Amino acid sequence: MSGMHLAYDLSFTHTEGRWAAAGSWVGQDFPDVRMYMEVARTAERAGVDMLFFGDGSGVPSTWRGSIDPAVEWGIQWPRQDMSPVIAAMSTVTEHIGFGLTYSSTFTHPFSVARLLNSLDHVTGGRMAFNVVASSRGADAANYGSDHLIDHDLRYERMEEFIGVCRALWDSVAPDAIVRDRSTGRFADPAGVHPIDHDGRFFKVRGPLASVPSPQRHPVVVQAGNSPRGIAASASFADLVFGFGSSVAGQLRHRNALDAALTDAGRDPSGVGILWATQVIVGATDAEAAARRDSLLSFWNREAVGTFISHNAGYDFSTLPETFRLGELRDEIVAAQASPAGLVGSLVAEFGEHHTMDRDDFFEHGWRAATGLDHMLVGDAAGVADALQENFAATGGRGGYMLSSPLGMPTGFADLSELLVPELRARGALAPRYPGSTLRENLAV
Ligand SMILES: Cc1cc2nc3c(=O)[nH]c(=O)nc-3n(C[C@H](O)[C@H](O)[C@H](O)COP(=O)(O)O)c2cc1C
Repeated sequence: MSGMHLAYDLSFTHTEGRWAAAGSWVGQDFPDVRMYMEVARTAERAGVDMLFFGDGSGVPSTWRGSIDPAVEWGIQWPRQDMSPVIAAMSTVTEHIGFGLTYSSTFTHPFSVARLLNSLDHVTGGRMAFNVVASSRGADAANYGSDHLIDHDLRYERMEEFIGVCRALWDSVAPDAIVRDRSTGRFADPAGVHPIDHDGRFFKVRGPLASVPSPQRHPVVVQAGNSPRGIAASASFADLVFGFGSSVAGQLRHRNALDAALTDAGRDPSGVGILWATQVIVGATDAEAAARRDSLLSFWNREAVGTFISHNAGYDFSTLPETFRLGELRDEIVAAQASPAGLVGSLVAEFGEHHTMDRDDFFEHGWRAATGLDHMLVGDAAGVADALQENFAATGGRGGYMLSSPLGMPTGFADLSELLVPELRARGALAPRYPGSTLRENLAV
């Protein structure tokens, strides 16, 4: 078993009431870049491997068919393109890596490959690309479509998308750049080639009109956890994200990924999963528990409904008094959203024939929205124990993508100053920045 890698998830530090938590965003409002620069510095001092931004471009509108509750309560809104924020954070750090998300369903591989090449230059080889298929109708509606394209077809497009990106990143050989000042000869044409890609979804001539970046290929991450999503990870991902909700769920993902990697002719021991886990660390268990309880009071039914309906692509305000879980899952699948999410995990837990009532469902929805079931709460020693135990139980490859519902910078400062040093003192972490690129530091 290798040491754990750690990332911080900075995607939702200003939404779902976190912006209003005690000590959060005080004197600075989202998206003030100085806040991100401060968090980047403290995370690098602690030796965290990567800072991550997820993405979704639609304002949640599934619940009651309206954007109003998302806007009113700040549910997964506002969000913006975080690539310039990464560029700014990289100027005040030297080692820490950055993960950025784009949708292979709604963007074009030429523009994404080009942007990531530029960011890899600016950051000195510290970029990772989290490619997502996007499962939310609100996103599709911004890109010319009232409906999501078929779930599995999205992954077919993703595989082709990554193939095009990689071909573009390879289209200029590093040694083709000669920069001979005496003759003025810039590059050797023999090392610069069109890719002439003509596939089902994309037609791209290439080459990329860019100089190869320090990593050449930014680290590619993928999180899909349906069978088709896992097959896509197995075909191309350097690293995988998973939901750190329960050992049973994590093992389902780990085992399915290992089988898919073997089928794809890859060695499962080389592909880690970073498990998304919320953490509240306090000086004592009681202090941490009190902080958690103060945050839970944010969530009213409207906020929960908005959050879970957006993620599932199903308006849960229309649920009947009682319903069968399997039937609800089938309706969600028919709408081409993810079969995995909240309802998928309830089916896995209770069985598809289970009849559930509305209140019970919203109780589970509240637990999912708050992240209670995948939240570790306690002092640094207790949380470190839990992480080490979970790491050993789930295959010991990868690590954790930690988020903090305590917001910015409070929650992440507690992680950097209390939890990460505790894990490092125990020898539980992978070596601190042994290489000069993110790929080397993550050993992928
Ligand atoms: C840590 C983590 C981060 C994710 N980030 C995003 C994101 O930024 N945007 C997004 O649309 N989906 C994101 N997802 C969702 C996955 O990409 C995927 O859609 C989901 O796991 C459902 O799997 P499926 O698409 O295979 O059905 C994330 C999932 C995990 C576990």
